[in-house]
Amino acid sequence: MEDKKEEEKKVEPQKEEEPKKDDDKKDNPPKSEEPKEEDKKETQNESKKESNTLTLQEQRNFIQQIIKNDLDNDKPAHKKSEIKESYPFWETQPVLQFNKESDIKFGEIWKDHKVEDQPKEPFPLPEPGLEWKDVDMNQQNEIDKLYEFLKTNYVEDEDHMFRFDYSKDFLKWHLTSPNYCPEWLISIVQLDTKKNKKKMVGFIAGIPIKVCIHGYDLELAEIDFLCVKKEFRNKRLAPLLIKEVSRRIHLRNKWWAVYTSGTMLPKPFCETTYYHRNLNVKKLVDVHFTYLPHNMNMARAKNVYKLPTELPISGFRPMEEKDVDQVQVLLENFEKQFKVHGYYDKDLVKHWFIPRKNVVYSYVRENKENKITDFISFYNLPSSILQHESYKKLMAAYSFFNINTTITVKEIMKCALILAKNAGFDVFNCLNIMNNEEAFQDLLFGKGGGKLKYYFWNFVCPPTEPKDLSLVLM
Ligand SMILES: CC(C)(COP(=O)(O)OP(=O)(O)OC[C@H]1O[C@@H](n2cnc3c(N)ncnc32)[C@H](O)[C@@H]1OP(=O)(O)O)[C@@H](O)C(=O)NCCC(=O)NCCS
Repeated sequence: MEDKKEEEKKVEPQKEEEPKKDDDKKDNPPKSEEPKEEDKKETQNESKKESNTLTLQEQRNFIQQIIKNDLDNDKPAHKKSEIKESYPFWETQPVLQFNKESDIKFGEIWKDHKVEDQPKEPFPLPEPGLEWKDVDMNQQNEIDKLYEFLKTNYVEDEDHMFRFDYSKDFLKWHLTSPNYCPEWLISIVQLDTKKNKKKMVGFIAGIPIKVCIHGYDLELAEIDFLCVKKEFRNKRLAPLLIKEVSRRIHLRNKWWAVYTSGTMLPKPFCETTYYHRNLNVKKLVDVHFTYLPHNMNMARAKNVYKLPTELPISGFRPMEEKDVDQVQVLLENFEKQFKVHGYYDKDLVKHWFIPRKNVVYSYVRENKENKITDFISFYNLPSSILQHESYKKLMAAYSFFNINTTITVKEIMKCALILAKNAGFDVFNCLNIMNNEEAFQDLLFGKGGGKLKYYFWNFVCPPTEPKDLSLVLM
């Protein structure tokens, strides 16, 4: 267990400088939904009991009463109609539209593409002083600038309580995967004439991936980290970033893309939901990530979510380089069962799954014949806590791939939870994609508020159920 010491270290509330708050007017913090009358009675009865030991049914009742916040910026459908009346930019793009039936049921929308027809120069920017600039992920000072930009401007929940805080090591890992294209990492900078410095005001990233869409293989770009500085919002920089990254992707003779968003755009092929498993309930309640129902005290809540420190299944150990070949085969066989999935050759397995401290955690389970039969992985994506005096960082583990061939989904997920808890995470987040959902109820996951939508650009994919999808975009 190479990283054991690190994993066992508990993460203390961070004491680092408070992140710069945005200038937007803050809305009220989210409120816990009032439990239904019958739930209230049940909770009151429960709280009269002396014992802190709950039956499974009681635990389920409890979990149903807890309202979770989602970490994306989605608006729940019951609060606001998610679909806008018109999408002036997206209506010009090769994507399915809400108000128009498409003749194409599967495959490309724009077919006649030629590299030589692409504009050779970047799209003009709307204001003097703005410039395009590639971000060089081999220069530490450029990684530092990108990190600060995203830490201050990237995705927040709708009540401005949490904002994603991708670490520098995470950004380097994610944006320099094998065969990455340096010119697909694009920023817009503003010249600060007083300080003679360039400040980042927009960013978008593309990385090359290969996916299988209902039996059809496609090499395309995964688009991530679309972000515009708060002061530059609503100036149509986002469409420019999207058009510019598309132009550069086309110059590499690639004509399709995949991306996710909490925002409803025309038109998702799959809508997925985050589920959250509390690991550190006290902190999650303190920072208003989670609420306890009326009459539920903290001692009982802690008891409900308690996990052992030892894994219930023996044989898991951190993945090492020598495991790459076996993990690649395991992953390849696992992926085949999903209608929309990615491909991982050995280089990609090495890049994405060999453990990296504080970035990605992977574990293999080997039998007596040294055959790897099961695999767990999750990644570290903390959020800044924007409105708490002492807690500054929410430590969230995100499920990546859990592959089980000799144990159940519930058993492997329970091992993942324990490993994440032992590594100091506060919460374990997991999409209801692949077979993950099988474990949610028994392991006391709570449903998140928003939906994460999946989209293809220039490719019509039939509507796909989350359980038939295995793409994890970060
Ligand atoms: C998302 C973001 C870049 C949009 O920028 P903006 O300044 O608000 O919007 P702009 O005026 O530049 O552009 C508006 C267009 O972008 C579209 N848009 C908004 N969010 C989008 C998203 N996540 N992905 C793609 N397009 C998006 C809008 O629908 C609109 O297009 P339309 O005219 O067809 O409706 C900006 O709000 C932001 O940085 N938010 C925080 C980070 C974030 O949420 N990133 C998205 C992660 S998926």
